[in-house]
Amino acid sequence: MNDVELMSMAVEAKERAYCPYSKFHVGAALLTKSGKVYLGCNIENSSYGATNCAERTAIFKAVSEGERDFEAIAVAGDSVDNYTYPCGICLQVINEFMPEGRVILSKNDEVKSFALNELLPYGFRL
Ligand code: THU
Repeated sequence: MNDVELMSMAVEAKERAYCPYSKFHVGAALLTKSGKVYLGCNIENSSYGATNCAERTAIFKAVSEGERDFEAIAVAGDSVDNYTYPCGICLQVINEFMPEGRVILSKNDEVKSFALNELLPYGFRL
């Protein structure tokens, strides 16, 4: 599974977004070190704070299935000209479960891999 393939799975996952309020679809594809992929989408709520982002949907699905070793997460949003960067809460969750993992983002036809510390240089750890 290469980065471009993982990104195309994130784009597919985006189609399942439940986002009647923002209308901004986000999909995530999380690759485990064993090669399995968990998909996630954003799931909104009329009580906005109850919304779950695509990245956390994918990570929580995987962790709740017993996975702990992750290689990379690809994130696809509706923006074409800009990367859809993970929000601060999702970066913190990525920091918890895959601090050495890569975050794969895309804009236009470019697919780029970031280290977490480029996106969250001073992540909180106990
Ligand atoms: N969203 C994500 O799914 N991931 C992010 O990292 C940023 C934001 C979602 C949440 C909400 O449903 C919509 O995008 C607009 O904020």
